[in-house]
Amino acid sequence: MTIDAIIVAAGRGERAGGGIPKQFRSLASRSVLARTLDALAGHAAIRRVVVVVNPQDTDHVEAVRGETARSFTTVPGGATRTDSVRAGLAALADDAPDAVMIHDAARPFLSSALIDRLAEALDRHAAVIPALPATDALMRVMTDGTIVEPVDRAVVRAAQTPQAFRFDTLSAAYARLGGGGLADDAAVILAAGGQVHTVEGEAENFKLTMPADFRRAEAMLMGETITV
Ligand code: CTP
Ligand code: MG
Repeated sequence: MTIDAIIVAAGRGERAGGGIPKQFRSLASRSVLARTLDALAGHAAIRRVVVVVNPQDTDHVEAVRGETARSFTTVPGGATRTDSVRAGLAALADDAPDAVMIHDAARPFLSSALIDRLAEALDRHAAVIPALPATDALMRVMTDGTIVEPVDRAVVRAAQTPQAFRFDTLSAAYARLGGGGLADDAAVILAAGGQVHTVEGEAENFKLTMPADFRRAEAMLMGETITV
């Protein structure tokens, strides 16, 4: 089965702050995007990688090329993540793969074992995503934060990326989608009436979203330096 990958890296990283979009910030001397590329493009199951970028970030992207030996093409993204994924899918359509993995540039710590689990599940499922059980107690709330009721932890999961799909299945779901951005590609499949399977996610595969996530990442990498 041929599997291509799309890394969505066209966001602005407003919640993370830091002056430049978070995917181009450095963690222990290497950019987040270079780390993400190495983890994904370095896996033997992945044929081609398309990185979806904002044209304003061309200089940052060229700097990343100097940091990694992995080859990748780029394509301009859109206003929402959904638009950016759509642009990535269009770039792959000419020489379409059997399957595609869509990954957030802002998740540099995915393991090759996770990619293995997803690739293996693609033999049986057209749509499969990594997910983690909730550990905190969960509450349904009103918009003002007042609690309505507890939510049973057993019936929820936190969704991660890479999200893996048969290419035709995801393309058809995107073709059916109207306007409006959805949170992720699993939501696009569900909106089209499809089923999404889950495999075990990884706590380390968190998304760099807030300033504290960068401090956590720096601490993780510091630990690695000390133990090797
Ligand atoms: N993304 C994208 N195109 C967009 C919006 C998001 O390619 N128009 C990408 C981001 O670059 C990121 C991933 O989608 O790798 C997940 O989005 P998120 O964590 O929300 O990143 P940002 O949108 O950049 O951050 P923020 O919402 O805080 O501005
Ligand atoms: Mg965003």
